[in-house]
Amino acid sequence: MIKDLSHGLRVVPSRDERTRQEFVASLRLHILADMAASMRARYEQRVLPRFQQEHGRSPADGDEVHDAMQDERYFRFYSSIRYNAQEMVFRSVIPVVDRNLEDLNNRARARPGTVVLNPGLTVPKNVTSIDVHLSPGSYHSEYQPDDVSPGAIYDNSINVFAFNQMGRDIDDIGHSFANYVRLAFPDFRPKAILDAGCTVGHNTLPWAHTFPDAEVTGIDVSAGLLRYAAARASAFGTPVRFMQMNATQLDFPDASFDLVFSSMFLHELPLKDIRAFFREAHRVLKPGGLFLNMELPPNNKMQAYDRFYLDWDSYYNNEPWYKLFRDQDFPKLCAAAGFPADKFVEAVVPRYTYTPEAEFAARIASGARFDDRTGRLGEEIEWYAFGAWKQKP
Ligand SMILES: C[S@@+](CC[C@H](N)C(=O)[O-])C[C@H]1O[C@@H](n2cnc3c(N)ncnc32)[C@H](O)[C@@H]1O
Repeated sequence: MIKDLSHGLRVVPSRDERTRQEFVASLRLHILADMAASMRARYEQRVLPRFQQEHGRSPADGDEVHDAMQDERYFRFYSSIRYNAQEMVFRSVIPVVDRNLEDLNNRARARPGTVVLNPGLTVPKNVTSIDVHLSPGSYHSEYQPDDVSPGAIYDNSINVFAFNQMGRDIDDIGHSFANYVRLAFPDFRPKAILDAGCTVGHNTLPWAHTFPDAEVTGIDVSAGLLRYAAARASAFGTPVRFMQMNATQLDFPDASFDLVFSSMFLHELPLKDIRAFFREAHRVLKPGGLFLNMELPPNNKMQAYDRFYLDWDSYYNNEPWYKLFRDQDFPKLCAAAGFPADKFVEAVVPRYTYTPEAEFAARIASGARFDDRTGRLGEEIEWYAFGAWKQKP
């Protein structure tokens, strides 16, 4: 079921390790497909009617659904299994990375790619103060000189976590939004592209594939991720530079980029850092440039049950800023950073690498529609993104 990573930093699990990873991936698929459907049925058949009887109305938001679900045994069962499966993702991957670490670090040293580290950078507390989404050591812990283990753990764990639903090289989000920009805005051809919070560059490299004339830069705060990202890009032969930098304080001059992108990044930032990043994105964009963030859809576009369902990670997966972010008014966030209100952009797109191009283009043309596929990992997932154009002079 799990496909091996296809690049030169691949670590090969033993047969037992692979079997364990396959089990965890299948368990996650079972939880997110079968158990999620059963949980929704119980909500509709038991929890909702009980709530309506008590309150004379339906739940108004995700928090009310969450409260009402507390007494439902199936929800507790679902949450317990899902929490444990999340821990098992890392338990199934870390021993494989550990066993291969010296060799992996040597392989990365042999083809380092383009990476500019800043040893003086303080890694922010949103990364260091918790094990983000239950990943032991979070994104930044290092164990050997020139260590790439944070990158290797992330790459291999997402491969198990995503059970083949996020692209061959876990890069479908990048391909989907690079091609969205290519197809939706045919007169816009970015020459300088920034990916903020790029982790290992899964969704950075597709921009270089789609816009081969562009200079593409990925930034992140973790050195161990960036060493891995650069060596991974080098293994693919894709020219992308990686730099260690805080997105809230970008070390680039004003008007440096045509496009500033991020994916799955904002929900891991405290709100004040989201605001600071938006101001920085506005500053480093050229006039007429595009700011685009792939993210979970906003709560104000979802039904109460779907809000609750997608906010599970905030309640139980060590992602404390996730719900606060989804509760924001996204056009207002952009406007507060200086983007004109009438330049707000929003997209819901199918997965580019799983969809025929004509179907993908037709779906883009039909506009942003929200339903229970939006942002929900599975075979039917549609990705969401929002942002804005910077005012032209
Ligand atoms: C969920 S990951 C992003 C995933 C990645 N964009 C992708 O598409 O595969 C969040 C990343 O943000 C980074 N990060 C957190 N706070 C940051 C900050 N203030 N500036 C830059 N990167 C940050 C973390 O180190 C982590 O790599």
